[in-house]
Parts: sequence; C-alpha cells; structure tokens
Amino acid sequence: MSKEKSVLEQYRSRYEPKIPAILKMKINHMTLKQGARTTCLADPEEIRKSFPNTYGRPIVQIVKGKGPKAEKPLNVGVILSGGQAPGGHNVIIGLYDSIKALHPKSRLYGFKGGPKGIFTENYVNLSAAVINAYRNTGGFDMIGSGRDKIEKPDHLTACRAACEKLALDALVIIGGDDSNTNAAVLAEYFLKEGRNTAVIGIPKTIDGDLRSRMIEVSFGFDTACKLYSEVIGNICRDAMSARKYWHFIKLMGRSASHVTLECALETHPNIALIGEEVDEKNMTLAQIVEYIAHVVIKRSEAGKNFGVCLIPEGLIEFIPEIRTLIRELNTILAEHDKYFQTIKDFPNQQEFINQKISRESSSVFSSLPARIQKQLLLDRDSHGNVQVSKIETENLLIEQVRELLDEWAVEGKIDEKISEKFSTQNHFLGYEGRCSFPSNFDADYTYALGRTAAILALFKRTGYMAAVTGLTRPVSQKGAWGVPLTSLMNVEIRKGKKAPVIKKALVDISGRAFKLFAENRAKWELEDDYVFPGPIQYFGPGDISDMPTKTLLLERKK
Ligand code: FBP
Repeated sequence: MSKEKSVLEQYRSRYEPKIPAILKMKINHMTLKQGARTTCLADPEEIRKSFPNTYGRPIVQIVKGKGPKAEKPLNVGVILSGGQAPGGHNVIIGLYDSIKALHPKSRLYGFKGGPKGIFTENYVNLSAAVINAYRNTGGFDMIGSGRDKIEKPDHLTACRAACEKLALDALVIIGGDDSNTNAAVLAEYFLKEGRNTAVIGIPKTIDGDLRSRMIEVSFGFDTACKLYSEVIGNICRDAMSARKYWHFIKLMGRSASHVTLECALETHPNIALIGEEVDEKNMTLAQIVEYIAHVVIKRSEAGKNFGVCLIPEGLIEFIPEIRTLIRELNTILAEHDKYFQTIKDFPNQQEFINQKISRESSSVFSSLPARIQKQLLLDRDSHGNVQVSKIETENLLIEQVRELLDEWAVEGKIDEKISEKFSTQNHFLGYEGRCSFPSNFDADYTYALGRTAAILALFKRTGYMAAVTGLTRPVSQKGAWGVPLTSLMNVEIRKGKKAPVIKKALVDISGRAFKLFAENRAKWELEDDYVFPGPIQYFGPGDISDMPTKTLLLERKK
C-alpha cells in the first residue's frame, strides 16, 4: 500500500463509526436472548437432511444482561469472499477492536485471497498497525478476496486443519449468498466432526440481494448505489446539455435489479429496465427493444434526441427465451466441461452447442450476435453463475433498437430523421463502485457487523449470520442479532444439480420501491425530470452524510 495518503483518507481514518447503543456496552453486561426456532424459506425436508446439526436453531438477540467474564483471549479467523464491497475492512476492524477489548491477547488471523487462504494456510496475524492503516477505507486489499468455493471434502478437511492449527474459536466469512452457503456447510461439518470453531457469516454484496426480514440489506449496496447515482446524474446533465446522445448505462448487480431500481429512484432516468418485471410480464427481447424504441420516438418527436436508459447487468437472465437458453447452456457446459474446453475455435463451439440444445434455444442462440454468443459461453464462476458482468447487454440493446428504428423508417412507419438522430454512448458502471471509501452508512453498519460477529463468537453461536436491524433509525433504536444461516435457505439447481443454497432476494415488484418507480416512469420518459445526487458526502449534516438508500427507507417505512 502506498505510504502517501490522500487528504480525505487522512480525515477518514479518524472517523468513528456510530454503533448501536447495545453494542457499546461492556461485554460482561451483554447476553443473548433466544427467540423461537426457525425453519427455512422453502424445501424444509431437504434442508433439514443436509443440515441435521444446524437446522432449526433460534434467532438470538444481543441484549443487556449478565454476560460472560471473558477472561480467556479469543482466536478468530476472517475470510473476505467474492466481489469487493465498500466496508469490508470495517467489518474486520470492528471484529478486531471487539476481540481485543475482550482480552488484549486475543488474535485475529486474516486468511489471504479468499477461501483458498484457509485451504492453503496462507494467513496473517493482523496487527494494530495494519488495522489502523485501513480504518474506514474501501477495498478488500488488507487481506484480499477470492471466489473459491468451500464444498469438496478436501476443502472441509483443510479448513478443519487450519482452524485446529490456529486454535480458532471462530471463523468469520464475509460474503454474499454463495459464500454464506459455504459458511453454513462448514458450520454443519464442524459440528458433525465435534469441532468447536464457530462459523459466522456476514452479509456482503453491492448487489443488495442478500436480505431478509432480519437482514435489512447487505453492506456495500449503499455506497455503490450512491456512487453510481452520482455518475448517472452527471450523465443525465451531459445528455440534457449536449442534446445529441442516448446513453445506455449497464449497472452491476448480478441477477437482481436492486442497484438499477435504487439508482432510478435517485436520478429519474428516461428508462430503467427492471429484470424482475421483465420476468413477471414474460417480456421477450423483441418487446423490450420495442419499448425502448417507442420512448426514443416519443422523445424525438418532442425535439429530444437524447436520453438515459439504465440496464441491470442481470437483465439478460430474466428474458424468458434467453433464460431457457442459459439454463440449457449451464447444464451442457457442466456435463461436457472437459470436452468443451478442448474445442478451440468458435464455429466448432457453436456447432457443438447447437447440436446439444433444444430447437427453440438453438434459434435464440443463432439470433444473437457472435460477440454475445461468445460471452454466454464464457466459463461459469466457481458457484456455476453466468458472468453477467462480461455480457454486453447495453450494446445488444443499442444494436437492436437501431435496427428496429431503421426498419420502421424504411417501412415509412416513422420519420427517417428519428433513426438518423439516434446516436448512442454506452457505459458500464460496476467495478468503480465496489472499492470506494464506504459511505457513513456502510462504515457504521460494517463496524457494527464486525462487533456483532465478535459477540456471536464469544457465545459460540455457530452457523449464524450477524445482523444489525433498525438501520434507518437512530443508533439508540438499532438492534444486533444472530440469524441462523439455514433459515435463509432453499433448494436450487446449481451446475445441473439440486443444491441447498441461500436464496437470492430479488426486487419485489409489489414492494414500495418498485411501485414508486412504476408510478413515475411515464413522466420520467418524456420530461427531463433528472435529479443530480452529487458525490457521496462523508462530513456535514446527517441528512446529507448519513442518509440511507431510498429503497431501504421505503422498505422499512412503518
Ligand atoms: P458478490 O456477489 O460476490 O458480492 O459479487 C458481486 C459482483 O460485483 C456482481 O455484481 C458482479 O456481477 C460480479 O461481482 C463480478 O464478478 P467478478 O469480480 O468476478 O468480475
């Protein structure tokens, strides 16, 4: 890490996260209150069978009471898993500060490069100097991250060996739905093996799709959406100033469209596509293209040959005919992985795929530009997900809208000037949002999550996710909990097989956030009702520096 610190970084390192009042108490004044036993989101029989030792445990709440004396130091390991999200360092720091406050000889080991750090016993004993250098910074570079899965028997035994070697009381896994599924598997395995290392999960992902009644939002979503909204607002203003481009902006967020919906509420673009609505309405690619073309025409007729269209990166997976195609491709690529790797040139890959998939999917596949076909065939990630960030959906839509406008112009359905004036710019906002300095919301939230995890570790609550609730409320009203990982699970098809996994929370199109968007979008299509959120504010009045996302405010409104 560079020795030179920006002025903001210097100021930011002195920021003290605001944590829930309950987490400020001395540990010997805290206890855990047990709630009712839990079930899971679906498929209880299968989940119970896969997790006989951890299934059904109760939710626990951190409350005031007579707590343990904590005379013994705690040894804790931590792993950052999956994509970066602002606030990851503060989880580690909250954990570190808390276990050191419990006992100065407590140790925090950071496994390097994600889960493989534990398989390969590549770790660092985190020192106060390292911790202090990363307070309130973005990124995951303190120990690095990775996308390896903890699932195979040799992974589990390697984890066990590392935890035994370091005499870990707890292992904290900071990750998204897939990584927390791994945490659940490991917790179950340790109990089966009679090991006493508690495995605790932390809800991370900018995608915002790891949430439930108790997990109000994953960390990182707030900062990433604010950063993207700033840029989108700037692009809206540029579009309105130059009056010559349609900007197609693809936004990160994997399958779910939470990021796009939040950015739309923040900036009021002319078009925002929401994958979950496309799914609900069974909209084909042709219908989406027609919808965009109609807005382009309406605006052009009003003298506005410019606009802004937001596209969630996971849109492609919600379009019914493409979703079927992707499912078939996933199965074929999983079944014939080794053979497929040996087919080097693209025409032969195309031929192989076309022989294996259904006739309908083959015609969808063939209708897509070769570039998109190649992107759909790219390696799946280690959890079997299509790498949607590598699929240029924004360019696919631009090309298809242009073709349609040209066709309608030739057929005399629209004035040819409309198609001539359809000039575009494409953008992808993704990676730049994942390592920003965390907003105050994320800096506070993550530090509190780290502290909650330390308390769950002390109480040996294995197979739990740390949760902080009341995120839109003052610190005095926030709560800290442990939520059983199995309570967030259902069974899904992964790599062609049924698997118990933590369920992704998609946009609820009957929810308040989507409804607000749906009520306003017709106005936003035609008028230039853009809003300019500006950059994230780290200092100043709370209504500008501590404001949560609109989605969270709407969802948690009483
Ligand atoms: P996580 O689910 O691991 O938090 O990752 C989120 C994400 O940023 C997605 O939005 C995106 O599709 C993906 O990671 C990109 O993955 P990679 O960093 O491997 O390119």
